[in-house]
Amino acid sequence: MNKITWLGSLLLMVGCVQAADLEKTHTMHHLHNAIDDRTSLNLTPAMKQHQLKNMRAHLAAVQDIITQLGSGNFSQASNTAHEKLGLTIEMESMCSSFGSDTFKELGMNFHKSADELGAVIERGNMQDSLAALGKTLSYCVACHAQYKQ
Ligand code: HEC
Repeated sequence: MNKITWLGSLLLMVGCVQAADLEKTHTMHHLHNAIDDRTSLNLTPAMKQHQLKNMRAHLAAVQDIITQLGSGNFSQASNTAHEKLGLTIEMESMCSSFGSDTFKELGMNFHKSADELGAVIERGNMQDSLAALGKTLSYCVACHAQYKQ
């Protein structure tokens, strides 16, 4: 092998090793993302559907609250917070049905914060209303980070 060919092969090898290393880090990154280590609630298929339907209603309620606030309709926004997200008997029994005390506590605190949100909105101050909405949404985020179906 002359010097030039030898140097060429060496460079090629270094390139391959680097590419393999990159590939490995890339795969590991993907594997890490693929592992969902949140606590499972072990729901039955029927409970899963029921929960997701409920969740979509929560999202629609948040949308409604923001839309009403955007139009200055404080009392309508307040009603939605109480009626759709607040602690009703239905919500309490739903949150209690998963066989987990910590999940129940998180759910109950979420619904209580929504009633607090309704009370704050009722007073008609936009900045306070948005701060309270942010607080209620932090329960959505916290629960999703901790639990999966
Ligand atoms: C006490 C727990 C808890 C709270 C609070 C909570 N969620 Fe969820 N939510 C869940 C779980 C569990 C799932 C299923 C997630 C999974 O398996 O990946 C879910 C799923 C969802 C979904 C997916 C629905 C679908 O059809 O795929 C939406 C949207 C959602 N939540 C919105 C919200 C919003 C908006 C709030 C707050 C206003 C909220 N959730 C509060 C537990 C919660």
